[in-house]
Amino acid sequence: MEHKKLFIIMVGLPARGKSTIASKLRDNLVRVGIRTRIFNNGDLRRKLFLKDTSHSGFYDPNNKEGVALREKIAITNIQQANDYIADKGQVAILDATNVSLKRRKKTTSLLKDYTLLFIECINNHKEILEASIQRKIKLPEFKHLKRKEAIQTFKERIQYYQSIYRPLKDEKNFVKLDSFNNLILGEEIQDDLPYYDRIRDFLVTDTVKNLFLIRHGETYFNLEDRIGGDSPLTENGKAQATAIAAYFRNKKIPFIFTSKKKRCLQTAEPIKRLQQNSTVVPLLEFNEIDAGVCECMSYEEIREKMSHVYSARKADKYNYIYPEGEGYVSMKERVETGIRKALYLSTDSENIMIIGHRAVNRMILSHFLYRRKEDVPYVYIPQDKFYHIVTSQDKKLFQLKKY
Ligand code: F6P
Repeated sequence: MEHKKLFIIMVGLPARGKSTIASKLRDNLVRVGIRTRIFNNGDLRRKLFLKDTSHSGFYDPNNKEGVALREKIAITNIQQANDYIADKGQVAILDATNVSLKRRKKTTSLLKDYTLLFIECINNHKEILEASIQRKIKLPEFKHLKRKEAIQTFKERIQYYQSIYRPLKDEKNFVKLDSFNNLILGEEIQDDLPYYDRIRDFLVTDTVKNLFLIRHGETYFNLEDRIGGDSPLTENGKAQATAIAAYFRNKKIPFIFTSKKKRCLQTAEPIKRLQQNSTVVPLLEFNEIDAGVCECMSYEEIREKMSHVYSARKADKYNYIYPEGEGYVSMKERVETGIRKALYLSTDSENIMIIGHRAVNRMILSHFLYRRKEDVPYVYIPQDKFYHIVTSQDKKLFQLKKY
């Protein structure tokens, strides 16, 4: 048994985040000097047989030719991974669905001299799955199909894999991962696996290369100190948005996540305009705190007309919930879901941007940077600066920058 070498075998239905985790894990290991390479069956298939392997029938377990071809691709990759490990490689990641017992048994027998770690990615979040499928069908292999046909055939492909899917259970070393929440759902480690302490910790850590957390530009409500509502940007707010756009024009921002409010969408507009290829993704989860009966009032009006709200909030701002609205305490869960969606959808992007609001950005910042609850509602969120956040297993960076 070779102890310093490890095979990682990804497991899971298509569009469950396997390749993103595999590439982030590879980068993470390579950064600390562990020689790691990914062997991806999909890439090999596209390289060798792009034509005719995108339609769902190719994945039908009863299609003998399809099964044989996919088996051949899998074995070629295992052999290449084996050669790599037998030579200088330390970790080889087999990135494929590997959902059937038959495939996993075959892999195990071909690699019997080494320790294997199976990582099963599970994500049944419907909305996220739909969004991931939308992204998948942009791959060149679906170019000849209309959008609807591509979605249909990809969903059928998932169904075929589903029909032969056997979750991990009897393998010697495995982790079942909720790949949306970075949460370990099950774990069985019988061997002394090299690098496992590092890998396990990585799996539960948010990895973000560069997150730019921006607050929308100035609104008419801001000028009057009014809260909530759906006020548009002032001329000054529009100028701030243009300045942000100019600042980021040389960085590639594939996704700009915003709330569904005008002020965030208007701030995103000029930024997207100066980008080559960027999608604005409005998420309800990033809408500003709902001030309920106080929506659209100014802080002064609240103090005068609703002094009970004013004093109760002042006494415990984090836990206070506006009548018919929200409090920091009750918006935490939805904002965290928004963060998870943004991270998952942006896969391994170099840059991610979120344009949010004062309270929302406080929650987002506090997610990455520990804050005591009672301090969260007071985190500094200016409109003329943004937070640059880098977070990985080995590094945490927070920087308030002027644009
Ligand atoms: O004033 C702008 C705003 O985003 C309001 O819409 C929101 O109610 C408020 O800030 C949140 O800040 P605080 O919790 O300090 O009142």
